[in-house]
Amino acid sequence: MKKFIQSLPKVELHLHIEGTLEPELMLELAQRNSINIPFNSVDEIRDAYNFHNLQSFLDIYFQGADVLIHEQDFFDLTWAYLLRCQEDNVIHTEIFFDPQAHTERGILFDTVVNGIHRALDKGISELGISSKLIMCFLRHLDEESAFNTLSQAQAHKDKIIGVGLDSTEIGNPASKFERVFKQAIEQGFLTVAHAGEEGPASNISEALSLLQITRIDHGVRCTEDASLVEQLIAERIPLTVCPLSNLKLKVFDRMEQHNIVGLLRQGVCVTINSDDPAYFGGYMTDNFLAVNNAHPMNKTEIAQFTFNAIEASFVSPSEQERLR
Ligand code: ADE
Ligand code: ZN
Repeated sequence: MKKFIQSLPKVELHLHIEGTLEPELMLELAQRNSINIPFNSVDEIRDAYNFHNLQSFLDIYFQGADVLIHEQDFFDLTWAYLLRCQEDNVIHTEIFFDPQAHTERGILFDTVVNGIHRALDKGISELGISSKLIMCFLRHLDEESAFNTLSQAQAHKDKIIGVGLDSTEIGNPASKFERVFKQAIEQGFLTVAHAGEEGPASNISEALSLLQITRIDHGVRCTEDASLVEQLIAERIPLTVCPLSNLKLKVFDRMEQHNIVGLLRQGVCVTINSDDPAYFGGYMTDNFLAVNNAHPMNKTEIAQFTFNAIEASFVSPSEQERLR
């Protein structure tokens, strides 16, 4: 089954580009940009990756992003990820970026978007990997900062297909961003949001009703509410699930307890994704393998994750045909 999983065409829908910053590149960029980081070696960095919840990860994740300064840094980061996609036979990827993690440090929005976009362009022309770019609002920041970020995205509507919501879920309800999402939808952006990762099932219902999102990032706590699971099945609302992330951030203690295969068998449109692979120890193939090791599946079930991801993706119907 390992060979089958490795060679299976894959579609990734939940990937934070800042979460693909491998320790080697972090050190290289820190040196190149004369940024002080509290680590001297790759081993020291990896040793710091012991998380006990989402917040303990986010603190390290934002610190890591501080080494990204120039457009070329964002290009290098994105290109390295696309080369990993090629190894894992990822044929299409929808990438999140966190503009506020950079603009708050004085980096221009344009620097970030242009660097990422240039790599994505090269990805389609040289590797045949198609992609979409989704801009996330940091939910620990205020509404004004999100509105400001949305206005900066106006000049890049040709590069950004949608908006999302990430960072600290607990204490930052969807309602805080209801007006920003309304305006983003009016401006033609598609919408997604992290919900039900650390927070309860009610956060998923709230995100669906208040933010009018078309797919849920994580959403694994939906199983606490049977009527919500019924709604997800009936309305084919996709969940972009990140199994290794959920283990690292203690959403589940063991992969055997993970509910993704149960949800698949119930008919929920679940997908497998890597979230922040440089921090959680695995890209797409690793995530598929970890799920299958704990919950052995047949080939049809494994391939269903790719069919679900194609259905849940933001590609046009004709592009969907190409992916199938
Ligand atoms: N930002 C990057 N990874 C995240 C995650 N798993 N949850 C919330 N915000 C994030
Ligand atoms: Zn995420």
